[in-house]
Amino acid sequence: MSEIGLTNDPGRMRHGSNIGQPMTRREGVLKVTGSATFAADNHPPGMLYAVLATATIARGRLVSLDEAAATAHPGVVAVMTTANRPPLAMDPDAKTNPFMFRLDLLQNDRIRYAGQPVAVVVAETLEAATEGAALLSPRFEAEPARSTLDDADAFALETVGAGNPGQAEIGDVEAGLDTAGRTVDVTYETPAQYHNAMEPHGVVARWEGDRLELDMPTQSLAMAQQRLAGLFGIAPTDIHIRSPYLGGGFGSKGFPAGPQVLGIMAARITGRPVKLVLRREQMYGPVGHRAPTRQRIRLGMTEGGALTAIENRTRTASSTFDDFFEPAADVAHTLYASPAIRTVHEGVRLDTGTPLFMRAPGEASGSIALESAIDEAAEATGMDPLAFRLKNYAEREPISGKPFSSKALRACYEQGAARFGWAGRPLEPRSMRDAAGRLLGWGMGTATFPALMFQAKARATIRADGSGLLETGAHDMGQGAWTALAQIAADAVGLPIERVEFRAGTSDLPDAGIAGGSGHTATAGMALHAAGAAVIARLAEIATADEASPLYGAGNIGTLAQNGRLVRRDDETRGEDFATILRRAGLDKVEADGQSAADPAARDAYAMHAHGAVFAEVSVDPDLGQIRVTRLVGAFAAGRVINPRMVESQLFGGMIWGLSFALHEHAVVDRRTGRVMNADLAEYRIPVNADVPPMEAILVHEDDAHVNALGIKGVGEIGITGTGGAIANAVRHATGRRVRRFPIGLADLIG
Ligand code: MOS
Repeated sequence: MSEIGLTNDPGRMRHGSNIGQPMTRREGVLKVTGSATFAADNHPPGMLYAVLATATIARGRLVSLDEAAATAHPGVVAVMTTANRPPLAMDPDAKTNPFMFRLDLLQNDRIRYAGQPVAVVVAETLEAATEGAALLSPRFEAEPARSTLDDADAFALETVGAGNPGQAEIGDVEAGLDTAGRTVDVTYETPAQYHNAMEPHGVVARWEGDRLELDMPTQSLAMAQQRLAGLFGIAPTDIHIRSPYLGGGFGSKGFPAGPQVLGIMAARITGRPVKLVLRREQMYGPVGHRAPTRQRIRLGMTEGGALTAIENRTRTASSTFDDFFEPAADVAHTLYASPAIRTVHEGVRLDTGTPLFMRAPGEASGSIALESAIDEAAEATGMDPLAFRLKNYAEREPISGKPFSSKALRACYEQGAARFGWAGRPLEPRSMRDAAGRLLGWGMGTATFPALMFQAKARATIRADGSGLLETGAHDMGQGAWTALAQIAADAVGLPIERVEFRAGTSDLPDAGIAGGSGHTATAGMALHAAGAAVIARLAEIATADEASPLYGAGNIGTLAQNGRLVRRDDETRGEDFATILRRAGLDKVEADGQSAADPAARDAYAMHAHGAVFAEVSVDPDLGQIRVTRLVGAFAAGRVINPRMVESQLFGGMIWGLSFALHEHAVVDRRTGRVMNADLAEYRIPVNADVPPMEAILVHEDDAHVNALGIKGVGEIGITGTGGAIANAVRHATGRRVRRFPIGLADLIG
């Protein structure tokens, strides 16, 4: 049996030479040379272009479309409307499980958000389709749009996020606040944000009879197959999806989006391949966003700074027709020890596209508010923010009372603080300046994200030449999954990575589960690990039963796979290579399947989270209020690191997103029309290179024997948490101003 990766003891990992190596991105050269084929790069013969016409009101009714004008335009082949769209096997507004998002597929004339598709024009060229869509000149009957958290009645939420309880409580929060020597009672607001993946949502769709061939970016090939099969009334296996690369997903490509389905419908009615790619402004509506939140946070502390109560009451929004609610308060369940914790979510329904998972959904908006409030609590007790956090360090998960499967947060605090130089920080705000006279501030925040796992399958083959083939329908959305998973795959069969072919990214491969919740490496990685172990076990059965093998009779002693050879566990000099075993057995390959899932017993016994600590320095112009982040240091403990280069890159990406949350991102909604007014990358501000300071991400060693056999927790989303709060707290420290509405802008700091 292969024992590679079955232990977290680094000394016993000697057989696995790939896990832990800082290998470069397998598709890196393809991407920098422009030769990686993204979905929209496909142009099958006879392909037509589809362009959406969209609603310019947020609520009301579509009254008319000038179809004649569009149809008369040279090159236009078809105009698809509510009247002639192909029949669907399932109502796009039906929902048979919580992971099914309601879609706008021209089912009727109702308008429920600005940017909702109202027609699709299909033409021989992109230009003709674009002009045709403009010529439709839709007319609407508008009703007043509800676009802010105060525009509709709030109601209590039973569930938030992916089915978490909307309310949770331990202890007596009111008693904790009543007996507290110091309290903080503050309200933080976070804005609507949009995923803005660099690659817009799109599809290239071909029907071959009732078989569907798709080039379409997705974070979940199998779920996309299922969803589309339901809508079109065909078998999932009759849908083939290629999604080798995604130009970012961030949650918005977790499910097929309505416009992608419209592209497939357009191919149906024209009988030709169709490409539909959203324009940037069309991504502010039908493909999800992060909903705004308003979080009232109440904290109670003893005079000595021990928390006596934590409460977060969050109001957030969903659409009028679906049910995704940002679980912003939940981060208070995990972060700090307190005898009493209460979280409450209430919802309002707005005339907006349905919100969706967006990078660290809940944790991002929840932690920027809580980490700011904790900074306020530290200040109220006259304590250093790090000392305050250490005082309230949670040795067990506060909400559940469970022990953590592992928690190296103390080491994160120590290593991050040492690297940053935190020890020299004066408590008083406005007490540091740089050489140019700009105000300097230092802030910190705690990072956390749950270590999730989903279900996945993989297949491992050892071929006649002794090389390996490992397959799982995994998704590389830029995070480096293809690289990290290939490393796990190679170790799983005891081969150097050059001798392993790793296939991923298409729907005909075993289901790798969703690339989301920071769980893809753990989930797909464990399936590969299991498949590899199973195929090596089959090889071992063959060899140990074969009198001609040096491994004959070693069945009880056990064998190990290393560097393409199977060797005796008790004497690694005795063994033979994979190819020899297969040749003597007369086999051209040996193959096995593996699968992964979270272990329910371990999940029941332990709380599983990654942790981190982020330290930020900002400088603020005292006259103009201009804010610059000048340093960012994060230290993160997230279990085993498969590839430190990819992990560092993920953490940097997350930290930049945290910076963006604190200082940049904000979808501005026009209250009169319900339209996003900055629906483009010029006005919807995200950090550019000049906004991003030198960053460091320290990978803190952490062994976890419970989370899964490989000890992987996941790093995709944790970087965004902690960072936003650290920057907000640094702004406070620099200026003496506490800004409780994000993003913080210069207008908040002057006057
Ligand atoms: Mo992520 S929001 O789980 O893609």
